[in-house]
Amino acid sequence: MTNKRFLSGITPSGDGTLHIGNYLGAVAQFIELSQKNEAFLMVADLHALTTIQEKKQLEKNVETLILSELALLKGFMDEEKFKKIVFFRQSDVPEHAELQTILNNVTPLGLLKRAHAYKDKLQNQDASDEEINLGLFNYPILMAADILLYKPQFIPVGKDQKQHIEIARDLAERFNKTFGKNIFVLPEPQIPEETAVIMGTDGKRKMSKSLGNIIAIFEPEEVIKKQVMSCYTDPTRAHTNDPGHVEGNMVFSYLDFFGERQTVDEYKEAYRQGRVADVEIKDYLFAALMKTFRPARDRYEELKANPKLVKEILEHGTYKAREAAGKTMVEVREAVGLNNSYAIGSSLIVDRSSKNNNCITIEDIAKLEVRVGKVVKAENVEKSDKLILLTVSFGEAGQRTIYTGVRGYGYTPEDFAGKQFFFVVNLKPRKMPGGESQGMILAVDSEPLPFGKHGATKPLFVSAEGLPVGARIR
Ligand code: TRP
Repeated sequence: MTNKRFLSGITPSGDGTLHIGNYLGAVAQFIELSQKNEAFLMVADLHALTTIQEKKQLEKNVETLILSELALLKGFMDEEKFKKIVFFRQSDVPEHAELQTILNNVTPLGLLKRAHAYKDKLQNQDASDEEINLGLFNYPILMAADILLYKPQFIPVGKDQKQHIEIARDLAERFNKTFGKNIFVLPEPQIPEETAVIMGTDGKRKMSKSLGNIIAIFEPEEVIKKQVMSCYTDPTRAHTNDPGHVEGNMVFSYLDFFGERQTVDEYKEAYRQGRVADVEIKDYLFAALMKTFRPARDRYEELKANPKLVKEILEHGTYKAREAAGKTMVEVREAVGLNNSYAIGSSLIVDRSSKNNNCITIEDIAKLEVRVGKVVKAENVEKSDKLILLTVSFGEAGQRTIYTGVRGYGYTPEDFAGKQFFFVVNLKPRKMPGGESQGMILAVDSEPLPFGKHGATKPLFVSAEGLPVGARIR
């Protein structure tokens, strides 16, 4: 499967930490699929509200989950591929809640009553309708909104989520039919063949934080060592030189994923013949885990120490997500009849919150004077480690001195001397070391940044080569 769009979400319930079961069961597959497809990954924080209703805990869970997911992605992917992933928090994209509100109206009550999350809670935990909140009950509608907003072709999920994808398909069809427009794409669930249910260290139940049978990824080494040492091995084996069982032995189950094939095979043989102690294979498992997760553990510490970087990643992801979600919502509003002749909202696709106050008029543009200039001389400003002083010719309009503070990005005077660029020439002159800046050179951000933001990346200068020197832009 190549070049399709897919979406995945992780709910920050539990405590937001990820263990090797999460990695093998979900994150590894996500990374694999991201190599060849367009990937959207969401931290489903609104979903967590169904169970977590304590401010501090939710904040912490979300932070931990964001760091853990990003560290795994960065640790196991090359930077170019990583940058293509659209990573965002659900609550940063208000369109999720908006679409849910609309989908409510094409959802039969009976459909929700048959949904597992609600039914299981009702039956297993003998909770009554009085105790179950509506957030849990209509959770499948929010999840359908999560998915349908992005029109993904497929959704990689575990078996437990299959029903939710079916509900999303059902609601998509109902909406399309009711409003007579094929807006929503029906997403295919993609459930891995060899269902990677990773058993816990007790060897009995699925690995899960609440059961205390996990091996963590980002905990201190001592903690992980302890978890490895507690792994269920072979209870029928009393002494090291008794022959042991490899099947059902959790150390070997994990080693199949994390150990070196040949070493693992040798250890299996030795274990069966009673030539190796439990503690030795556990030590090997611990070393193999540390080796595997070293890059991700390092990234975790780096990210934790650099909140600005984390925010930049989220800002970029949110921008991309809102762009896609906003487009779908324009279609949805149009289809249901919310986009009537007095509607205001849907025309502002990218940033509806900005009240459209970033618009200027033709008269405003006329005030701005941008001209083609040729740099006749460029030199470093001695007292500064940032500034380069440009002497710029505007032909008949004469020469000006213009300063640019870009040495920090690796630019030298040679990058400018003799070349043509665009300059703002009616800027109020500004006093600089050794002179006055009489204008501003125009530059472009080297990477796309969230709408309305600029300046965080290396500037690229806009070449005006071949254009008449002194000519004005209009
Ligand atoms: N409900 C999913 C889970 O518990 C998480 C989730 C929320 C999700 N929204 C999603 C998964 C959208 C895939 C697509 O695992």
